[in-house]
Amino acid sequence: MYFLRGLRPSLPHEDDKEKMTNIAVFASGRGTNFSAIARAAKKGKLKANLALLVCDNPDAGVIEKAKRSGVKVALVKREDFPAKSDFENAIIRYLEENTIELIVLAGFMRMLSPEFVSRYRNKIINIHPAILPSFKGDKGIKDAFEYGVKVTGVTVHFVDEKMDHGPIILQSAVKVEDNDTLESLEAKIHKTEHKLYLQAIKLFIEGRLKPEGRKVRVVNP
Ligand code: GAR
Repeated sequence: MYFLRGLRPSLPHEDDKEKMTNIAVFASGRGTNFSAIARAAKKGKLKANLALLVCDNPDAGVIEKAKRSGVKVALVKREDFPAKSDFENAIIRYLEENTIELIVLAGFMRMLSPEFVSRYRNKIINIHPAILPSFKGDKGIKDAFEYGVKVTGVTVHFVDEKMDHGPIILQSAVKVEDNDTLESLEAKIHKTEHKLYLQAIKLFIEGRLKPEGRKVRVVNP
């Protein structure tokens, strides 16, 4: 059998081939969110290729986790570059080399410049361990615990120019019980984070997130 050039019918498995979204996780610390995402991608729960870890801290536990999961690591240290723009340009080169379509911040303890944010507008998401706009910053769980709130939680949002500020994608509440310690609350928050981040990433991949000003509509597929 032969086919005219360009008219070969596609084979069934070619039609079935699903598009995978190339993801980069940016992290500076332990990497439990990184691991949750890597596990879900490996198990096929996310139609994603976790193509890259961008890390700015050579001592971060997340580096070892990425190596063990076979994810490429870009260690980019701020102190190796004279200006923030040089540091970010080095990151951009990695993102382009790996055709990254979604940037997932998971404990990346560094503000991205307005130039970087506008280049990847609505393609960067962040997770925060509190119900924004309350308890912004790098101690969201501790600040909420010490304030004495009865309910705290987790927020996933698009990143804009301000810290922990962009349009909110999903939030999930976590109750603070009288017998909770900071450690037990942290454990509950992290468990919630791992679930919520996967839901948000899945919605992004499915093209179901429609940001309109401060609001993000979640549309049906
Ligand atoms: C997470 O709890 C995340 O919400 C927080 O850093 C932690 C990283 O944990 N991010 C922020 O506080 C951002 N303002 P992980 O390294 O185990 O994923």
